[in-house]
Parts: sequence; structure tokens; C-alpha cells
Amino acid sequence: MRLLVTGASGWIGRHVVPELHAAGHQVVGLARSTASAQALTAAGVEPLTGDLSNTDLLRTAATDSDGVLHLAYGHDFSRFAEAMAQDAAAVTAFGEALAGSGKPLVIASGTPAVPGALATESDWVTEGITGARGRVARAVVDLAEQDVRGVVVRLPRSVHGAGDYGFIAWLAQIAEQAGLSGYPGDGSARWPAVHVTDAARLFRLAVDVAAPGTVLHAVGDQGIEVREIASALGERLGLPSGTRSAEEIGFLGGMMAVDQPASGAGTEALLDWHPTGPGLLADIAAGHYDR
Ligand SMILES: NC(=O)c1ccc[n+]([C@@H]2O[C@H](COP(=O)([O-])OP(=O)(O)OC[C@H]3O[C@@H](n4cnc5c(N)ncnc54)[C@H](OP(=O)(O)O)[C@@H]3O)[C@@H](O)[C@H]2O)c1
Repeated sequence: MRLLVTGASGWIGRHVVPELHAAGHQVVGLARSTASAQALTAAGVEPLTGDLSNTDLLRTAATDSDGVLHLAYGHDFSRFAEAMAQDAAAVTAFGEALAGSGKPLVIASGTPAVPGALATESDWVTEGITGARGRVARAVVDLAEQDVRGVVVRLPRSVHGAGDYGFIAWLAQIAEQAGLSGYPGDGSARWPAVHVTDAARLFRLAVDVAAPGTVLHAVGDQGIEVREIASALGERLGLPSGTRSAEEIGFLGGMMAVDQPASGAGTEALLDWHPTGPGLLADIAAGHYDR
């Protein structure tokens, strides 16, 4: 297939592209800058110059493709509302372009927080601000009614590996600045995680074989207590770990206070996908988050 991929230059995208190539797909990648276009070209991706906000461009490019994999997201959390609106508009444009075609529209989303229980593929959080991505995901699942093979791949809080600059790298930076690797409360809230290569393999399967309306969970570690994450980071950084208020930790503090373990058992059974990469604590111990 000739696939349109947004976010192909990102952390997860750069691991998904080789998977798609190995499966025989051609990749056209949205590139919002010259640097991203150059990185895509070097990775064997045909760059399409443009921004996620240009929905006309997205519609045309999706129509010209055999399917869309949407990984791009604005991660400047000071502009959260803008990113949410842009994401919803982009997915609407893709849905309109692919309606009636039977082609795949695969999007990245997040595992829902169901405190005290393992979130499964059947759980949904669609209310309020935290439900914004859930609402977009629900719309993608519902596209099955319009003959679009809408598939949602939910990712846990950390998609980790060597070179990761996401939340765990942010926590390492916050710890270094504070001289303390902190966690809110007693640190018993749990975060799920997956190795980036396992997530990439699942995106490829989602594109190739997942049925319309499928929700998949790319989960390796089901739930690691945040105090264990803080302690592992502290050990590598030569810092003590201990409790701090969520406010002191900042943006991630609130997220670390919410128990949100997740299961990928349904996905493993459905697609014979099984995570094989190292766990998050092993990746921290291997020095991938050293500063
Ligand atoms: N990494 C994780 O731990 C994690 C966990 C849960 C969910 N997710 C989700 O998984 C998806 C991929 O995440 P990631 O970690 O790969 O993110 P990332 O490394 O921040 O990459 C984001 C990608 O989106 C592109 N992008 C952002 N804004 C854009 C815009 N306005 N126009 C065009 N392209 C734009 C970026 O392009 P540039 O290269 O030009 O910057 C980059 O390719 C996202 O939906 C993310 O929210 C990730």
C-alpha cells in the first residue's frame, strides 16, 4: 500500500516506518519543516510538505493514498486546547476523504485511566478534557459505518527505548532540577508502558490486518508504581527519591497521581501480537534516561 503517515518523523513514527517498509508498503510522510522533510527522505519516506492544520491538504493526500496512519500530535502542552482541536479536525478530514473506500485509518491514542482496575480495550473515557482523545478515537471506530477501516492503537503513558524524549525523559529533567526524583503522595499510582519496537510492530499489524472498529492496546508493562519509576531514575541520576506534591512536580505531577494501569491481553489474543522488548525499569537501568 501507499500509505500517508503523519508524525513519521516523531519518536514512534521513526520506528514504525521501517516496519511498514519491511512489510512492503510505500510511505508518504507529512513534513512541517525542512528538517523533518530531510529526516524523512533519509528514512526512505516521500515527504509531503505541510502542516496538520491544513485540512484541505490532508483530505487530498488521504484521497490519493491507500490508507492513513495518523501519529502526529502537537505536544506543546501549554497549547493543549489547540492541539486537541487540530487533532479532531485532522481526523475528521481523513474520515471524509476515506469514506466509502474501505481503506484503513489507523490513529494513535492513549490507554484510558480506570483507577483501581486494568483498563481494557473495551473501556472508554470520553468526558471532559481528559476524554478529548477518547472522543476522537470513538469517532474513528464509528467510521466503520461509513466503510472506513477505522482502527485505534492506544498507547500507555511511556513508549520507551533508547533515544526516548517523552515523559520519562521529562521526569529525569525535573528530578535533576529539584535534586530529588519525586512522586506524588505515596507513589502507589501505576503507569503502564511499552517498548517502542513493540508499539511499532502493533501499528504495522493494525494497518495490515485489524478489522474495522478495532481498539488495540500496545501494553507491555501493565502498571508500574510511580515510586518505582522515580526510584529507578534516582538511582541512575545519583539522586534520592521521595514524595513531592503534584504541583511541585508540575504538569506530569497530576498525571503521576492517577492510578491508570492497562492491559493488552485482548490485543495479544486478537492479533497474536506479544511484547518482547525490555520493560521500562530495565530501560531506565540501562541508562537510556541518563542526563
Ligand atoms: N511517546 C509516548 O510515550 C506516547 C504515549 C502515549 C501516546 N502517544 C501518542 O503517540 C503519537 C506519536 O507520539 P510521538 O511520541 O511519536 O510524538 P513526537 O515524538 O512528539 O512526534 C510528533 C510528530 O508529530 C509531528 N507534528 C506535530 N505537530 C505537527 C503539525 N502541526 N503538523 C505536522 N506534523 C506535526 C511532529 O513533526 P516534527 O518532526 O516536525 O516535529 C512529529 O513527527 C501521538 O499521538 C502521541 O500523543 C505517545
